[in-house]
Amino acid sequence: MRIVVLVSGTGSNLQAVIDAVSSKELTVEIAAVGADREGTYGVERSAAAGIPTFVVDFKAYADRANWNAALAEAVAAYAPDVVVSSGFMRIVSADFIAAFNGRYLNTHPALLPAFPGAHGVRDAMAYGVKVTGCTVHWADAGVDTGPIIAQEAVAVLDSDTEETLHERIKVAERGLLVRTLGELAAGALPGL
Ligand code: GAR
Repeated sequence: MRIVVLVSGTGSNLQAVIDAVSSKELTVEIAAVGADREGTYGVERSAAAGIPTFVVDFKAYADRANWNAALAEAVAAYAPDVVVSSGFMRIVSADFIAAFNGRYLNTHPALLPAFPGAHGVRDAMAYGVKVTGCTVHWADAGVDTGPIIAQEAVAVLDSDTEETLHERIKVAERGLLVRTLGELAAGALPGL
């Protein structure tokens, strides 16, 4: 299974995938890693691991439609079976997702459909939930919407800050993403 991973920042979930592939825990081919802006650590660490990288800078395009088309072209050049949004903080169009037969996987740091968006951890804490977690799902053109594949719960501690809670969620999230990719690669999950 060939994957292209899209990132906007640190790429620690991506690093877990890179590590799982290099330790042979996970059998997928990371064909490329792409970002929506220059200078992400996610792209830097991929290049260091010898993975092809590309940037389709959102700010360099006149409008979202042009950016989406350019992103689709850049991703399609690597002929992925699955495109993974791993901390990719942009919404892509329905056309983009259709170009990859709907196989656009997203990971989110909350138990969807609760707390979608860019601040899932902060919003869950502000609401006062005692349990939150992470979700891996097939993404559609909405904000963190689409069929759920796997979730894992994480308890919120009284002592938590957004940072400590997000870090614990990310530990669960990295495992969930690697396991889900493994199950997809093994054909062990139902298709779309
Ligand atoms: C992850 O927790 C991911 O779920 C979240 O951004 C973080 C990226 O971390 N994505 C979203 O909030 C999408 N709505 P990373 O760059 O260290 O993998």
